[in-house]
Amino acid sequence: MSTTPAHRAAELTDTLPAHGVLPGQRPAAGNGTHSMEVRGVHKAFGDFKVLQGMNLNFVDDAITTVLGPSGTGKSVLIKHLVGLLEPDAGEILIHGQDIWRISESERYELRKKFGVLFQDGALFGSMNLYDNTAFPLRKHTDLSEHDISDIVLERLHEVGLDKALTKYPNEVSGGMRKRAGFARALVMDPDIVLFDEPDSGLDPVRTSLLNDLILEMHRQHKGTYLLVTHDIRTARKVSDYVGLIWKGKVVHYGEAEAAFNSADPFVRQFLSGDSAGPLGMD
Ligand SMILES: Nc1ncnc2c1ncn2[C@@H]1O[C@H](COP(=O)(O)OP(=O)(O)O)[C@@H](O)[C@H]1O
Ligand SMILES: [Mg+2]
Repeated sequence: MSTTPAHRAAELTDTLPAHGVLPGQRPAAGNGTHSMEVRGVHKAFGDFKVLQGMNLNFVDDAITTVLGPSGTGKSVLIKHLVGLLEPDAGEILIHGQDIWRISESERYELRKKFGVLFQDGALFGSMNLYDNTAFPLRKHTDLSEHDISDIVLERLHEVGLDKALTKYPNEVSGGMRKRAGFARALVMDPDIVLFDEPDSGLDPVRTSLLNDLILEMHRQHKGTYLLVTHDIRTARKVSDYVGLIWKGKVVHYGEAEAAFNSADPFVRQFLSGDSAGPLGMD
């Protein structure tokens, strides 16, 4: 390994996020590397510009929350990260790989690295919770039903659904559907887990319980977690890092504690608890 200053500088520049950990600043959590990078991403639907030069790197093994009002492109961001939407401009890098410069089949393989908890849980209505959770293993692995059962029962136990294995999604509460979706998202042992508004549709008590579960599962399984939400309480509870998005861009990124104690009027207003977002920005 070369250790010339130029080499070190290049290394630093390569790893320095556009909105990321500053040189010399110790990361609050995670190992400081980034297996997910969003670089200058633009996305419009017709004339409607949703992402307008978004830059954001996600620290490995940390929980990053991206906060923004409804309709700001949080779900669109998640769909870009898993390769379901292609940017009009800019790049999405997963483990350093531009996911639109690889083949369709490589992109398909890459998707297996992700666990995704979609906004509505996205469970199959025709399958019970056990089969929903087993689905990715049956689809993507050659594991025997015996081995699948070991994994599925453990994940469902971790999320407290032991007694609901044979229930169908429409027979259980919204909170249980979220937990089943979470169990399913973790079943392939993903190194990246994305949550699209895990708190949506849950009352404050169930939101709080789900947030505890997210923290506990992250502690046990590690991994790079991205949680998008418009719920400031959720962000406050689970985040190591916080990104604030506004008008298709990341307008603030940093350690959660610093963000929540920030003196910056914009950040303060954003995090004051008003889901309508910053005023006076137009
Ligand atoms: N496939 C699509 N076609 C057209 N418009 C879309 C599409 N997906 C999202 N949008 C629009 O992009 C904006 C951002 O959407 P979204 O990412 O779902 O917001 P949120 O931050 O609430 O998750 C919304 O105005 C939405 O209507
Ligand atoms: Mg959304």
